[in-house]
Amino acid sequence: MSKRRSLVSANWKMNGSLDSIRQLVSVISQGVSQGTESEVIICPPSLYISELAGMLKETNIGLGAQNVSHLECGAHTGEVAPIMLKDFACKYVIVGHSERRVFYGENDLRVAEKFVAVQANEMIPILCVGELLEERESDCTKEVISRQLDAVIELAGIIAMKEAVIAYEPVWAIGTGKTATPKQAQETHEFIRSRLARHDHEIADGIRILYGGSVKADNAKQLFELEDIDGGLIGGASLVADDFLTICHSAR
Ligand code: PGA
Repeated sequence: MSKRRSLVSANWKMNGSLDSIRQLVSVISQGVSQGTESEVIICPPSLYISELAGMLKETNIGLGAQNVSHLECGAHTGEVAPIMLKDFACKYVIVGHSERRVFYGENDLRVAEKFVAVQANEMIPILCVGELLEERESDCTKEVISRQLDAVIELAGIIAMKEAVIAYEPVWAIGTGKTATPKQAQETHEFIRSRLARHDHEIADGIRILYGGSVKADNAKQLFELEDIDGGLIGGASLVADDFLTICHSAR
């Protein structure tokens, strides 16, 4: 039995409307109020954070953001500062999601800067790492993940990993319906933990490492049962209340 409490996070990405999220949250919060072993959070599009902050207040669901600026304030049209998320009681912020890295050009250093900015504002970063299909096929998975982790450790120090969450998301599994096999997922999670253990065993042992990439109601349990998998970052399936609830209840 792991001593780490699992975390299941909905990542709604750029989906939903005021109407649809109200409906979704009301069903999800009812289901979660009946009790889950895992911690459950929702990361809505940033414009809906304020609405969700109100809706989640009386529930046991936490609030997160999908992205944030690495800067504190100033002339940065279209950006959202960490302190603004903090104002609406966000507890977690996803940084370095592959869609940000691939489509919006965020490099390892920028992701590390965001990680630092989130912690500087007393929120918890969910650091996403993961390889592209061609990187897996050319056997570079470990190299890519090490580079992504090292960039953060170099800037923030290993101690910063004490108040952080990691999400391993193989890019080829995101939104494709192609989940990593339990063996592939467990191997990579174990590798991530061992990489952190080179710096600090206790931190490596305590950090929660989520799996993300086509987690569905029917495969969540077998992934969450694995030794080094401490929950999930859920995209598509988190937009369907029943599926998301099944996933939440599958986490130990
Ligand atoms: P998916 O997305 O569950 O739709 O594959 C996961 C993610 O990108 O966080």
